[in-house]
Amino acid sequence: MWYNTPATKLLGIKIPIVQGPFGGGPSSVELVSTVSNAGGLGSFGMQSLEPEQMIEVARRIRTATGKPFAINLWMSNGEEMGSSPEDVHQAGELLRPYYAELGTEVSAKPERFIPDLGEQLDAMLEIKPPVFSFVFGIPPAAIIAACKSLGILTMGTATTAQEAIALEAAGVDCIVASGFEAGGHKGSFLRPAEESLTGTFSLIPQVVDQVRIPVIAAGGVADARGVAAALALGAHGVQIGTAFLACKESAASLPHRKALCASHSESTTLTKAFTGRLARSLPNRMTSEMSGGSSKIAPYPVQAWYMGNLGKAALIQGHDDFVSLSAGQSVSLIRHDSARELMEELVRETPKILCKYCSF
Ligand SMILES: Cc1cc2nc3c(=O)[nH]c(=O)nc-3n(C[C@H](O)[C@H](O)[C@H](O)COP(=O)(O)O)c2cc1C
Repeated sequence: MWYNTPATKLLGIKIPIVQGPFGGGPSSVELVSTVSNAGGLGSFGMQSLEPEQMIEVARRIRTATGKPFAINLWMSNGEEMGSSPEDVHQAGELLRPYYAELGTEVSAKPERFIPDLGEQLDAMLEIKPPVFSFVFGIPPAAIIAACKSLGILTMGTATTAQEAIALEAAGVDCIVASGFEAGGHKGSFLRPAEESLTGTFSLIPQVVDQVRIPVIAAGGVADARGVAAALALGAHGVQIGTAFLACKESAASLPHRKALCASHSESTTLTKAFTGRLARSLPNRMTSEMSGGSSKIAPYPVQAWYMGNLGKAALIQGHDDFVSLSAGQSVSLIRHDSARELMEELVRETPKILCKYCSF
């Protein structure tokens, strides 16, 4: 059967579809459990969660599904350790007029901008998820060894064949090969993201030629045609983000979901405006006013923290001008607002498309 692949065998799932993790808020227990219960692999992006929140969310996922699921964290490339007072000043000055528009002061500097990665990794080991997926690098060797001894499968994200080779050499079990069409951040870690922009169609065969572990294709897949194409290119599964983000089970804000369902693919853009790291989103006032002035954008995580607070304040006032509307290039292919229905369609239509070419 088309759905029996090395990835489904490794991950213990029935259908080779992974619901992409969403860091920073849009992940939900309902979305994860809906996809896992439908035979795929639901994933929860825990990048912004403190350890005790991670443990509580994992407990709720386990109540909602007995099937395999993934939790996802962002690795460190060292950049986030070096936020200087100048970065903080820069972010505050850049965003002050926007805060003023909302009638508020720039947020005071927090004690720390993001949760401690070491503590998050300890919580991940305590949770013992069936799958630990990650982006922006490779976990320390001791963490990969601990995952192996605890039976946690590891899934690392590559944006180039070189990154996939490095992940396999580190002992990772499975690769997510993420093309530049994908919504959200470009998780490159060997070279700057701007120098690692390869499309999914080109990336998948390059990666499967270079590694022996299962490869999951990500970026630009929103329907069964994309799943069939990725499998034909040699992928063993597909990770879908934007099309699941638009579903009612996700925790994306209502304005974000509305924008996704109203959109056209040619309108996505790559921007550092929201976090200081390159990411794909729908254009809005923030992406256009920050374009061209990227030197003024503070690095991650300083920019992410000040923009995140600005976005929350804007949403409370009912507009999405200052909010990141992450989306992949296939956003205009979105047809479902139910993750269960999307899964059903992928399972029904993918074999039909694959069969169409069997007779050639
Ligand atoms: C809002 C949003 C947040 C995301 N956050 C993460 C994340 O925290 N970790 C990660 O590995 N991938 C993250 N991604 C990438 C997705 O999991 C997935 O790989 C990608 O969306 C696939 O491309 P597509 O959007 O074209 O389907 C995010 C994507 C979006 C749209």
